[in-house]
Amino acid sequence: MTSTDGRPLWVGTSWKMNKTLAEAAAFIDELLEFSVPPGIQPFVLPAHTALASVRDRLPLDSGILLGAQNAHWGPEGAGTGEISMRMAQDAGATLIEMGHSERREQFAETDLTVAAKAAAAVAHGLIPLICIGEPLEVRETGTEEQFLQAQLRAALSRLSPADLGQVIIAYEPIWAIGEHGRPATSEEVAPVMAMINDVVAELSAGGSARAVLYGGGVSPDNAADLLSDPYTDGLFVGRAGWAASGFVDLLRLCAPFAAAPRSGTMGPLSGSPETAGRTRRSTS
Ligand code: PGA
Repeated sequence: MTSTDGRPLWVGTSWKMNKTLAEAAAFIDELLEFSVPPGIQPFVLPAHTALASVRDRLPLDSGILLGAQNAHWGPEGAGTGEISMRMAQDAGATLIEMGHSERREQFAETDLTVAAKAAAAVAHGLIPLICIGEPLEVRETGTEEQFLQAQLRAALSRLSPADLGQVIIAYEPIWAIGEHGRPATSEEVAPVMAMINDVVAELSAGGSARAVLYGGGVSPDNAADLLSDPYTDGLFVGRAGWAASGFVDLLRLCAPFAAAPRSGTMGPLSGSPETAGRTRRSTS
C-alpha cells in the first residue's frame, strides 16, 4: 500500500511522575533553544501539576503540543484524585493519554475505562492517545496480535468511524518499557503496526488513525530502526526524553524520517500547531 496522506512524524515524551515546576521550566527553556525540524510534531506530557505552567511558558507559536497523562471519562464531580477532560483542556492539554500499562497495572485502568476516556476525549475535541501493549508471557506464546487486537477494539468501541481519524494509538509492549525492559526491534513491531492499521481501516471504512506510534525503550540507538517501519508514524518516549538534551537528540535523529511540510491534511484540529508533513512509504 502506498499512501500519500501527508502526515507529521510524531515525537513525544511523557514525563511520567517526574519534574517539579522549576525542573519543568528548565526543560522547556532548553527545548525552546532548539528549532524543531520540519515535518515533526513534538509533544510533551507533563505531570498534571506542571501542565498549565508549561503551557504558559511556551510561546503560542512554539508548535509543541501538550497533553495530560490521564483524565477521567466523566464530567467534573466526585472523582477524588482525578481531573476531568475539561480541566485538562483548560490547563493546556490537546492530547489525553490513556491505557498505559503502568496505569492498567497500578491503577486498575481497564479496557472499559479506556473506551470511556477515548469517547470523552473526542467529545471534548481532544486527541485520545491510546496505549496498548502485551506482557512478556503473551509475546512468548506468540499470541500478541490477538491480545492487542482485543485491547484495541475495546478501546475504540465507543468511537464512531469518523472519530477514528482523531485518535493516536501507541503500541507499547510491556516487556520493552522502563529500565528493566528490552527494547523491541522493528521486526517485532512491524506486524503489530500493520495490524493496528488494518483494524482502524476496517472500523472506519478505509480510514486511518491520526497516527500510530511506537513506545517502550526508545533511545537514540534504536529510533532509526523503529522508524524504518512504514506504519510507524512516530515515537512515544519515556526516559530518553526526560532530559531536554535527550529529547532534542531524538528530534534531531528523527528529522530524516519526516518529509517536507505539506498542507491541508490535518482536519478538525486545523487551528492546532501540528505541522503536516510525512508521506508513508510504500510497504509493497
Ligand atoms: P520508556 O517508557 O521509554 O522509559 O521505556 C516508555 C513509555 O512508558 O511510554
